[in-house]
Amino acid sequence: MTLVDKILELKKKKNAIILAHYYVNEDIQKIADFVGDSFYLSKIALNTDARIIVFAGVKFMGESAKLLNYDKKVLLVNNEALCPMAEMASINKIKQLRKEYDDLKVVCYINSTLELKKESDVCVTSSNALKIISSLNSKNIYFIPDQNLGRYVKENIKDKNIILNDGYCPIHNRLSIDNLLKLKAKYPKATVLAHPECQKEILVNSDVVGSTAYLIEAVKTIKNDEFIVLTEEGILYELKKRYPNYRFYEPDYRMLCGDMKKNTLVELYDTLLEEKNEVIINSLDRIKALKPLEEMLKYAK
Ligand code: 13P
Ligand code: SF4
Repeated sequence: MTLVDKILELKKKKNAIILAHYYVNEDIQKIADFVGDSFYLSKIALNTDARIIVFAGVKFMGESAKLLNYDKKVLLVNNEALCPMAEMASINKIKQLRKEYDDLKVVCYINSTLELKKESDVCVTSSNALKIISSLNSKNIYFIPDQNLGRYVKENIKDKNIILNDGYCPIHNRLSIDNLLKLKAKYPKATVLAHPECQKEILVNSDVVGSTAYLIEAVKTIKNDEFIVLTEEGILYELKKRYPNYRFYEPDYRMLCGDMKKNTLVELYDTLLEEKNEVIINSLDRIKALKPLEEMLKYAK
């Protein structure tokens, strides 16, 4: 019996589902029940009847699944897979800004720790940030933790005072405009797809900006068969699967999220077998951190 067969058998026996993000290794994407962007995976976690949710992604994704479906057992394939950006904001700064602005809404990218969610008013993902922030009735918004997504939102929503924080994704933020210009010179006919965690100069020189799922869908609607892909390379598995005749080009600088790659098939098997790496959130924390996620689901409808 192969390792994959063993996982599939165990999954059935234990009434478990496997959720995987587009950035994890392709052998996991191949056997996952659902693969998607952060927003899609939160909605799946909310609605599943399975007894166990096994999350192949990073810690904040497993925590969101647990917050949204508290009675389920949520297991992380690897509990050392963290998103470094998730903690790049300060609770003291949130408190200080709340004193300064009566109407302040703290908008928290879902890539954030439980502690930051507890202090926030509404969560967003890269697929719904523009929609949600434009519907908020406050003028003053503090966007945490990602400065690049925050700046992208600020540039697209002019009637709000969007205060930026200095967090960033180390993988997307390191991509320089030189990397992109070289690629454009090499493949002048290619359409440029970029994740909004990239820096401003990258985004203004891209054709399509959006979440992983949005970028994958966008390819279907564009009359071209060549694309420059400016996000973590795990997305290429889904792109090549859906569009086998198209060409996808990546920068020389490899966009590789080491944390996402900590999810392996062997660990997936062990996690499921031993039901280990369980996400535990106490009920008080749950009440506070769930609030912004529920607000997100309400606004994103
Ligand atoms: P998406 O929600 O677009 O899948 O992004 C998650 C992420 O971690 C991007 O770095
Ligand atoms: Fe976090 Fe960046 Fe990895 Fe996404 S790619 S999980 S934002 S470190």
